[in-house]
Amino acid sequence: LPETSALMESMAYGPAPESPSPALDWIAEHGRFGCFVAGAFEEPGATFETRNPATGEVLAHVTQADADTVARAVAAARAALPGWAGATGHARARLLYAIARLVQKQAKLLAVLETLDTGKPIRESRDIDVPLAVRHFYYHAGLAQLWPEELPGHSPIGVCGQIVPWNFPLLMLAWKVAPALAAGNTVVLKPAEYTPLSALMFAQLCQQAGVPAGVVNIVTGDGDVGERIVAHDGIDKIAFTGSTEVGRRIRKITAGRGKALTLELGGKSPYLVFEDADLDSAVEGLVDSIWLNQGQVCCAGARLLVQEGIAASFYDKLKTRMRHLRLGDPLDKCTDVGAIVDPAQLARVTGMVAQGGGDVFQPCQAPGTGCFYPPTLITGLSPADRLMQEEIFGPVLVATTFRTPAEAVALANDTRYGLAASIWSETLPLALEVAPKLAAGVVWVNGANMFDAAVGFGGLRESGFGREGGWEGLTEYLRAPGGRPEAVPVTPGVVGPAPLDRTAKMFIGGRQTRPDSGESLLVRASGGQLLGHVGAGNRKDIRNAVEAARKAQPAWAGLSGHARAQVLYYIAENLSARSEEFTERLAAQTGAGDAGQQVARSLEALFACAAWSDKYDGRIKDVPMRGVALGFNVPVGVVGVLCPSVPALEGAITAMGAAIAMGNTCVLVAPETAPLSLTDFYQVLETSDLPGGVANIVTGRTVLAETLAGHLDVDAVWAFAPELGQAVEAASCGNLKRTWITPWPGRDLGPFLRAATEVRTVWIPWGA
Ligand code: NAI
Repeated sequence: LPETSALMESMAYGPAPESPSPALDWIAEHGRFGCFVAGAFEEPGATFETRNPATGEVLAHVTQADADTVARAVAAARAALPGWAGATGHARARLLYAIARLVQKQAKLLAVLETLDTGKPIRESRDIDVPLAVRHFYYHAGLAQLWPEELPGHSPIGVCGQIVPWNFPLLMLAWKVAPALAAGNTVVLKPAEYTPLSALMFAQLCQQAGVPAGVVNIVTGDGDVGERIVAHDGIDKIAFTGSTEVGRRIRKITAGRGKALTLELGGKSPYLVFEDADLDSAVEGLVDSIWLNQGQVCCAGARLLVQEGIAASFYDKLKTRMRHLRLGDPLDKCTDVGAIVDPAQLARVTGMVAQGGGDVFQPCQAPGTGCFYPPTLITGLSPADRLMQEEIFGPVLVATTFRTPAEAVALANDTRYGLAASIWSETLPLALEVAPKLAAGVVWVNGANMFDAAVGFGGLRESGFGREGGWEGLTEYLRAPGGRPEAVPVTPGVVGPAPLDRTAKMFIGGRQTRPDSGESLLVRASGGQLLGHVGAGNRKDIRNAVEAARKAQPAWAGLSGHARAQVLYYIAENLSARSEEFTERLAAQTGAGDAGQQVARSLEALFACAAWSDKYDGRIKDVPMRGVALGFNVPVGVVGVLCPSVPALEGAITAMGAAIAMGNTCVLVAPETAPLSLTDFYQVLETSDLPGGVANIVTGRTVLAETLAGHLDVDAVWAFAPELGQAVEAASCGNLKRTWITPWPGRDLGPFLRAATEVRTVWIPWGA
């Protein structure tokens, strides 16, 4: 339709700016900012301005810390260390979780603040910086919970000095603070002088989360302040992200002083496009790779290497795409390329390109005001040229061609850096042949700039050393073995009011349901008095519960481990709020003197299950061929659980937690010793965003065991009652379901996670 296509041609984007007001109001509330030391904001000292690079406007006045401030911050971190290092993993997990929740709740304000201070497009701060920071805190809540058992003999390093750059201020803070705290260290962090605001807001969130005073200290100022932190005798470890030049200086200053050190430095990462690549996807990947954050990304794909046969058509496609990149107001949701962080950086980029030679293509002009630089492609350079070798750290892509895979590898590795690389090819064996030959800490196949808290990030060569993210990142903050400070008591959880008594039903498909039989069973206290009634479940109830579990399973398994972890944490949060009530109820039914501890251990089990949700990784198997075999842990499916009599509550919650953490759904047959604890528990589930059918609770006598074990749509039955073994195993023959018959195995989650998963293997041979 000609009219429509003409309209499509002429149609321009309308501006869709995000309002800066909430962030500006937050800044105005504070006026001038002092440093955050020992849990409080100090009075501002001598200050410097931080500006919005898109407009040049002054946003705030922030303190240039002096030597005394640094000393106070280090002393506060030192004083807080024994308590924090001595806290249990679970206590630290709870605080990291609280931080994650608060950052999430303030996501919008933080995103706007970040965009105002850095000039990056709001789309990025909203969809990348803040969510990844949140994810980092969640993930490390999990590591905090798990490492004391998984890494025996390890201990925190001590007081960590952390220096972060201006390109991802909040995200780099999260990359540093989350693992340090998870490991039991305390920190003195310095944000970059161009972009201190999100770190200051983070300090406020730490106060709200109840982070003990001195565990997190934020000291603002320039490189001199950074150097004071580096040189301070009270600092046990330095973690730095920034330029290679400063990294080298820090190595020199710390040399021989017994300080641990990790350096995350610059890069000039290659972006290899082979002739069999999906070219449109490769162009799109390049947009993410070099124009994300105006190219101010240490692992930006700044050197494009294209196979000769497709170079001309690839450059054409790329230029077409570049013409459609929208450069301008970072707060506009339609903006692709925002402002450069500071006039000094703009001058640096401008100068390097002006003197660098080559054929320069720029599809548009930068706006007249503000720190803007157009997306740029430079071809016609030779490999030794300055622009091919040095980090420009701006929206500037340099490109050249190669003929063979071997030449591609040689060109890619012709650099002093070794941070990241992207390979684009539709031939997986080729990509996997090339990947390990590249000098890079991270290689993306048919992708770019993918990050996750579970995956280690870091470089080789002059890109630095050490890893951030994953278990490997955590161990950078641990000493093995070593003395550990004295243990401190764990802060108890928040306690809510006890509810009124009520009629207990079953919980099937996310709804409270009456028993099919209409009959109830009496529940008596250990002393004999009547405590209440629960429904007497029958075959029909089991059938309904299995049906609900089956229906819910694919979607639940399809969620990421991260998403499942969030639900488990939420269940723990809601249980924690009612821990007193659960304690009383359990004690009343069982007479157990340890009811309080059982509730606390149930909370810990939920945290541990949440922690494992996204960490029960598969393995890469070393097979005797050119290639690898990948072993994935996949859920078993629908798990029927005959909950143990002792420990009644902890047993049911641990089994449920492990099953659902791994992506299974489950049918829990409540323990006859304490059925009311499980009927109370479904109220917790109801308020915790658990999708209907993921966990179902049936009450009744253990005769239900056979029905469950005989059901053809149940994939596994766990019976924590050896006396039921014969009946369950005999009934399980129909579909040869997996059975796990055992006395209560204890708190170690290992056997639960193994029972909840099975390994699937994928073989990937390779060869060019
Ligand atoms: P930079 O390395 O000077 O700054 C990074 C951080 O280090 C800031 O917080 C700064 O205050 C601090 N710092 C500076 N001098 C220090 C010292 N002597 N001791 C301790 N801390 C110190 O980076 P800058 O000057 O902002 O940018 C220059 C170039 O560095 C960029 O053009 C880019 O090439 C590279 N860079 C690389 C980054 C990366 O993520 N790999 C991040 C930022 C910059």
